[in-house]
Amino acid sequence: MRLILCHCNGLINMPDLDFGHDVKIEWYDDLCKQEVKISPDEKVVVAGCSPSIMEGIFPDVDAEFINLKDHIFLMKHSLDKARTLIKAGIKKAKSGSGLKRKTFMIKSKSAAVIGAGVAGLDLTKALNSAGIKTYLIEKEPFLGGTVAKLDRLYPESTPWSHTVLPLISSVLKNKDIEIFTNSEITKIKGEIGDYKIQLKIKPRGVIDCNNCGACVSVCPVTVQDDGRIRKAIYTTNTYPNKYAIDFNNCNRCGECVKICPKKIDINEQDKVFEINAGAIAVATGLKFYDLEKVEEYGYGKFPNVMNVLEFERKITDGALVPKKVVFICCAGSRDNRHLPYCSRICCFLSLKEAKLVIDRYPDTRIFVCAMDMRSYGNFEYFYTTLRESGVTFIKGKPSEVMKRNGNLVVRVEDLYTNELLEIDADTVVLSGGFVPDIESFEKLGIKIDGNFPIFFESGKLGNIEMPRGIFVAGSAGFPAGVAETIIDSRKSAFSIINLLKKDVIESFQPNAYVNEDYCSVCKTCISTCPYNAITIENGKIKIRPDLCMGCGICASACPSAASRLEKFTSREISEWIKTATKPDDILALLCKWSAYNATETAAYLKIKYPENIKILRIPCSGAVEPHHIFEALNLGVKGILIGGCYPDACHYAKGNSKARTKEHILKETLNLLGISKDRVRLEWIGKDEAKKFENIIREMSLVIK
Ligand code: FES
Repeated sequence: MRLILCHCNGLINMPDLDFGHDVKIEWYDDLCKQEVKISPDEKVVVAGCSPSIMEGIFPDVDAEFINLKDHIFLMKHSLDKARTLIKAGIKKAKSGSGLKRKTFMIKSKSAAVIGAGVAGLDLTKALNSAGIKTYLIEKEPFLGGTVAKLDRLYPESTPWSHTVLPLISSVLKNKDIEIFTNSEITKIKGEIGDYKIQLKIKPRGVIDCNNCGACVSVCPVTVQDDGRIRKAIYTTNTYPNKYAIDFNNCNRCGECVKICPKKIDINEQDKVFEINAGAIAVATGLKFYDLEKVEEYGYGKFPNVMNVLEFERKITDGALVPKKVVFICCAGSRDNRHLPYCSRICCFLSLKEAKLVIDRYPDTRIFVCAMDMRSYGNFEYFYTTLRESGVTFIKGKPSEVMKRNGNLVVRVEDLYTNELLEIDADTVVLSGGFVPDIESFEKLGIKIDGNFPIFFESGKLGNIEMPRGIFVAGSAGFPAGVAETIIDSRKSAFSIINLLKKDVIESFQPNAYVNEDYCSVCKTCISTCPYNAITIENGKIKIRPDLCMGCGICASACPSAASRLEKFTSREISEWIKTATKPDDILALLCKWSAYNATETAAYLKIKYPENIKILRIPCSGAVEPHHIFEALNLGVKGILIGGCYPDACHYAKGNSKARTKEHILKETLNLLGISKDRVRLEWIGKDEAKKFENIIREMSLVIK
């Protein structure tokens, strides 16, 4: 085994090292600048600076990293401790079975884009210009998404068609783009580089069409479509340039069939189609929160209470000429009964709609009620313009919308004047929040727990760490304006192009695996995995390497120790603890995403902690197994600190909350065994909280006798 040491530009010096004849010691002045050849199947120990830096220098290496710089030399701890940590690293490396290289073949060079709004169209265009065959899948009968239902786009104030139609035409003219409208994904199999996607193409009903519109004139069914009334057979001015039957509302009377000079088939059936793609992009766009759930505002009960899209469509086609209109921002948003988060674009949408009214009907009285106006960036200019144009802004969230003498009345407390206002109006517009498209993500096997994927960070959907090959673009990730959507779709295009130009990708991140001899298929791991990476195949547990993120939560939850995490197996941890610690030490098991970084911050700020702290970098606080703790206690370790990310900040979604649950059980067990529960602490420690780390360690040193 090779032990590679870095002098870190003269900081690290350890004379006379000897770890036995089978450990070859190599010193380098500065690993950041020197090239070290390590063969792919070699296991090495690297001792130098932060593992976060060394992982970047040796991305494809099965290495055990030891942080001599921060934990020894900047702390001014002893060389003895340094030798012990190196020895523990060597023991751990030798006892593990090694990190397996995961190889994924990029068999298909095509991409599937789900959703044909601005994000999906722009992404398709970008992929195609890089020579990638692209399947564009849209669930509606027409392309364009929500934007094609609007009047104009801000801040440029251009009609929607100026943005969307050129995108549609550039997508249409290319032979390497296949468009599926009225289509949904029903099944997906495979992994990055080779997804088999089954589509259901729903019937359009209109087989051949010359756009004469005769069908519309005889259709007896009217449908409310986001503020506009249309027939059950209809068209839009996007693509395809032919009518479609809305079979959710069609009564199949057959009148359209009789009058059509071309061909309509109301008995057309679903078709099934399969495509093969190496990468998938989710560009499913905006999904409105159901405002009927915000009962106090009367949406769905009072006809003149509407959402922003309905309002915009009514105003711009002249169906509504309001005399007095009240906008309610945050309808159902930033409200724990509905959506606890801010949807970012809804304040701006109220401003946009207010501007549409002012431009058309300058005499209309306009009130905008908002807890606080979040007109970020250049939209502040818009807000100022509207105030100067006579729009009245009220700081406050209305408590209710009611009906009195045929008029709507909005009750709101003005937080500036503390006055309870009752504003009567003929129209109330609710600017509600947006929700993630859970259904689409679930079909792709991605758990988002009701949150937007952006809250999971891009890496957690696979763009960075996990070779899943599924990318998110535009408002599917989080509500975004058109400009932001386009920027985001281009980022995804860049990642997809980079992926598909390779023939093979390799991942060297630790994965979980199952020892079938011990596994009773109790399914505990399936329910604990935050990434749907574990399934049952032929009665056996299977962990998909393309989905596993290496958090170790399944392994720590496995009651029969059948599920393990590479580089974090019981044997490896046990060897490390036995070698690194001695009685009266404090063992610190610190999450690499937070608490471990605090020790590096401590070194940088010269915040000193005692010599007897032995720090092990762990993937997540949720990966710690109770027997790691018992083993350390058994060896006489004075105390054990598990440091994790703050609530809601766990890199793996819920690892820290699972750690908290295990901590309670563990402490009860310690109590029963007559061991002071103070010897084990689980603490949330942020990356820069060096002082907090030091205080906890000092407290533990004092309290634990
Ligand atoms: Fe830090 Fe889970 S990743 S506690």
